[in-house]
Amino acid sequence: MKERVAVLTSGGDAPGMNAAVRSVVRTSVYHGMEVMGVRRGYRGLIDGELEQMNARSVSNIIQRGGTILHTTRCPEFLKESGREKACDNLRLYGITALIVIGGDGSFRGAIELSKQWNGKIIGVPGTIDNDIYGTDFTIGFDTAINTALEAIDKIRDTADAHERSFVIEVMGRDAGFIALDVGIGGGAEEIAIPEIPTDLPAILGRLKEAREKGKTSIIIVVAEGAEHGGAEQLAESMKELGAGDTRVCILGHLQRGGSPTAADRVIATKLGAYAIEAVREQENLVMVGEQHSELVKVPLVDAVEKKKPVNRSLVQLARILST
Ligand code: ADP
Ligand code: F6P
Repeated sequence: MKERVAVLTSGGDAPGMNAAVRSVVRTSVYHGMEVMGVRRGYRGLIDGELEQMNARSVSNIIQRGGTILHTTRCPEFLKESGREKACDNLRLYGITALIVIGGDGSFRGAIELSKQWNGKIIGVPGTIDNDIYGTDFTIGFDTAINTALEAIDKIRDTADAHERSFVIEVMGRDAGFIALDVGIGGGAEEIAIPEIPTDLPAILGRLKEAREKGKTSIIIVVAEGAEHGGAEQLAESMKELGAGDTRVCILGHLQRGGSPTAADRVIATKLGAYAIEAVREQENLVMVGEQHSELVKVPLVDAVEKKKPVNRSLVQLARILST
C-alpha cells in the first residue's frame, strides 16, 4: 500500500520545526510516498486545511524560525466531537500516517486521536521546554537557551554598571530545563526551578554574603513555573524580606523566535527523517528521539506519562561557582 503522510506542527512553535517539516517532506518524496501539510495544527485537521507538498514546498526554510505550516492551541480537539471531524478529514484525504511535531500536549492529543482513527501516528518532539521524556533534547531548546543567554549577557553589563540585582524570568511552563542551562551558561548566582522548592530566606542570605564579598552584580534566573511564581513575584517577595534595589526582566516570547542553531537544525533533520523511517517500519504511536546521540523510538504514552528528570545538581553548582 502506498503511504500518504500528513505532517503538522502543534502547540508552542519552536525554532527547528521548519527543518523537521523539510526533512519529513523530502524523505517521504525520496521514498515515493505522498505527503500533505496540515495548516494550523489540529485546528487545520478539523477544518480540512490539508495541501499536497513536494520537495519544492520546503525550499529555503531550514534556517527559518516559526513554522511555515503555522500552529495553534486548539480547544476543540480536546472534545471527541472535534477529533471526529479531524478523523473525517484524515479519511477523506486517504491519510495513512500522521506526523505530529509538537510538545507533550500535542502528543496527548495524538493518543486520543488514535482511539478514533486507525492510521499510524508518529510524534516528533518540538518544544523549547525540553520537558519530554525519552529524548535528551527537543527541537528548539538549544536555540531558546542561546537566545536567552544572549539577553542575559547584556543584562549582566547593566547590572554590573549599576551594581544591581536582576531577577530574570525564562520560559519552560512547569519545567526548569531552560532555567538550569541558561542559569549555568549565564553564570547566574541563583537558579529557581519548579522541581525544587525555592527557599527565599536562604537565597537572600547567600546574596547578602555575595555582596559582602565584593560581587557587583547579581543575576537570579527563575523559571516561569517556579515555586513563588515568576520573576515579578519573586522580586516582590525578595523586597518584602529586605532585598535592595532589584530589577525584573521577563524574556518571554523572544525565546521562541529566531533562526534555529546548528544543533536544532541537525536534530530536527535527523528526527524528521527517522519519523518517516518509523512509518516505513509500520510503527505506530511512537515518538522519535535522541538518547546519548543515538536515534530512538519510545512509546508515545511514555513520552507524555513519564517525567524527565532535571539535573538538580546544577542548582547547587551555580551556587558554588558564584562564590
Ligand atoms: P504543546 O504540544 O506545545 O505541549 P499544548 O499543550 O497547547 O502544546 O497542546 C497542543 C494542542 O494539543 C492543544 O491545543 C489541544 O488541541 C491538543 N491537546 C492537548 N492535550 C490534549 C488532550 N488531553 N486531548 C486531546 N487533545 C489535546
Ligand atoms: O511550551 C512552550 C511555551 O513557550 C512555554 O514555555 C510557555 O509556558 C508557553 O509555551 C507559552 O504559551 P503561549 O505562547 O500560548 O503564551
